[in-house]
Amino acid sequence: MKGFFVTFEGCEGSGKSTQLKLLAQKLDEAGVDYILTREPGGSPIAERIREIILDGRNTAMCDECEALLYAAARVQHLKERVIPALEAGKLVICDRYVYSSLAYQGYARGLGEDYVADINAFALKNCPPDLTIFLNISPEDAFERKHGADEGDRIEQLGLAFHKKVYEGYLALARRYPDICPIDCSGTKYETGDKIWQLFVERGIVKG
Ligand code: TYD
Repeated sequence: MKGFFVTFEGCEGSGKSTQLKLLAQKLDEAGVDYILTREPGGSPIAERIREIILDGRNTAMCDECEALLYAAARVQHLKERVIPALEAGKLVICDRYVYSSLAYQGYARGLGEDYVADINAFALKNCPPDLTIFLNISPEDAFERKHGADEGDRIEQLGLAFHKKVYEGYLALARRYPDICPIDCSGTKYETGDKIWQLFVERGIVKG
């Protein structure tokens, strides 16, 4: 495909939303043709699946159902939004993708990486990102930055122990998959933003 597919990953409170906003500003200033989208969601049907997944009342949802719904939302979003944009030569920036399922459902829920990878391989027929940016900050530090707020949707409500497992999952994935680039987030949001932009320049996604 002609475009370039970049995905962002990280734990809750890792600053993904902030970094995506900063990046969008820079891309706008540089006149880059891009779309910014998110998972789960990013297209009308996938957004409806998102509502079911994240609905705090759905406490009876089993882990397998959760993993399958994420994959269902993913393939719909991919076909409706991501692939057409890539075919049109655009840069696609996506907030979360398959590595979220491997870290959250595979590692933290305990379904196992193979089970979750198989579901996604079946659903997606292989559409890997060209680059994955992993905002590397521990959940302890992230929770601290969020001032300990842990209320929210069904996944956010799961507490620190769950999110530590997610983080361990990401670290394990980052060791094994070379397309994952961990970005150290210990500096200010602007320093982190500069590191991401530098990576974009190095990869030839934008001009320096
Ligand atoms: P969202 O509010 O978008 O969270 P964030 O801003 O942290 O990205 O909600 C998405 C939630 O879904 C988030 O808790 C991570 C979780 N998730 C999975 O568990 N598996 C997945 O495959 C994806 C895409 C997200």
